[in-house]
Amino acid sequence: MRDADALALLLSRKKNHSLPQPFYNDPGMFQLDLEKFWYQDWLFALPACEIPKTGNYITMQVGAYPVVVVRGADGVIRAFHNTCRHRGQRICSAIKGSAPKLVCPYHQWTYELDGRLLYARDMGPDFDAGKYGLKPVQCREAGGMVFVCVSDTPPAFDALAEKLAAYVGPHRLQDSKVAFESTIIEKANWKLVIENNRECYHCSGSHPSLCRTYSDSPTMTAMEGPDAAAPEIMAHWARCEASKLPSRFVNHPAMQWRLARIPLLNNAESFTMSTKAAVAKRMGDLPFDDAGSLLFYHYPNSWNHFLADHAIVFRILPLSPTETQVTTKWLVHKDAVEGVDYDLQRLTEVWLATNDEDRQVVEENQYGINSPAYEPGPYSTLQEEGVIQFIDWYCDTLGQRLTGRSIMAAE
Ligand code: FES
Ligand SMILES: [Fe+2]
Repeated sequence: MRDADALALLLSRKKNHSLPQPFYNDPGMFQLDLEKFWYQDWLFALPACEIPKTGNYITMQVGAYPVVVVRGADGVIRAFHNTCRHRGQRICSAIKGSAPKLVCPYHQWTYELDGRLLYARDMGPDFDAGKYGLKPVQCREAGGMVFVCVSDTPPAFDALAEKLAAYVGPHRLQDSKVAFESTIIEKANWKLVIENNRECYHCSGSHPSLCRTYSDSPTMTAMEGPDAAAPEIMAHWARCEASKLPSRFVNHPAMQWRLARIPLLNNAESFTMSTKAAVAKRMGDLPFDDAGSLLFYHYPNSWNHFLADHAIVFRILPLSPTETQVTTKWLVHKDAVEGVDYDLQRLTEVWLATNDEDRQVVEENQYGINSPAYEPGPYSTLQEEGVIQFIDWYCDTLGQRLTGRSIMAAE
């Protein structure tokens, strides 16, 4: 899609309405999303605890870019383009693994874990290995979460890093492990996956198990700022912060990310069917068991829940105009023993069910939007503030990245 066509489409959108159809299913618009968002923004990659040892790595696909994230011998986590500097072979094909060096399977060019090319057989006396290190991908770790950015000129990260350290730090992700992970493909545009995550208008109709512990009241997500939220949230912030647990709403100026701790229903401790903790061995340094959930979203690809006994991190990656990969990881204390400190089914059942329920609604959403009869409909300003905020962020950011200035939606 040409930039001018995308801009015309952007200008045609009505404020507080879902987007025109091409935003959700057009291949040209999908390519533009890749170029203007996924190839420019910081993306959540993995919790650092998943690659605790030298040589541990994970791979991920960012649009057309295969990326590998690996822990070096110096303990530093780095990311590289997973593309051999010889003839371009993808070097690591597994989702995750461990290797003393990164060896290309095609002709065995061998790279250090810091990306330097160590060995290339029979390349002649004039070959300069120093010129053929793996290309780096920007990589930052904060609060135990690892982010990557495939742009060589990434957006600022320091403000987010500081807040993640303060808010997620007490959950001590560095002392945790992945107890379980699930990856599903949702047959829907990535924006529909995020939109669905940003409202609970659908929760009572779709999420019977989540609704035992998670309030579907719009006041739970309609937080306006550090001093403007529902009374029960303000009281929760005051209680947590009196115990030195950062909890108050904090956000990126353009709302690309937000952190805030909310109480669960009826002083529930965790997202379990019983409302009690799922893990006997607590994960961090939280002052009480009913500290609720620290919510953290980061556009375009992550939302997270940090509880007193475990954490659940979510990462999405776009596969096609109408397919999105959703990976969920359940983190528990690294010394917690399955079957002793936690039961895997009890730990995972609520969000496995919730993810599948969300998959169904966003796939049906995509089906309906694909109809020639679809036209953008109005969001509820009472229930869908989060969706409005995401869509405004998306449209403002796209407009700015297309034109270098602000674009206003029609009223
Ligand atoms: S393509 Fe990697 S060693 Fe040849
Ligand atoms: Fe949902």
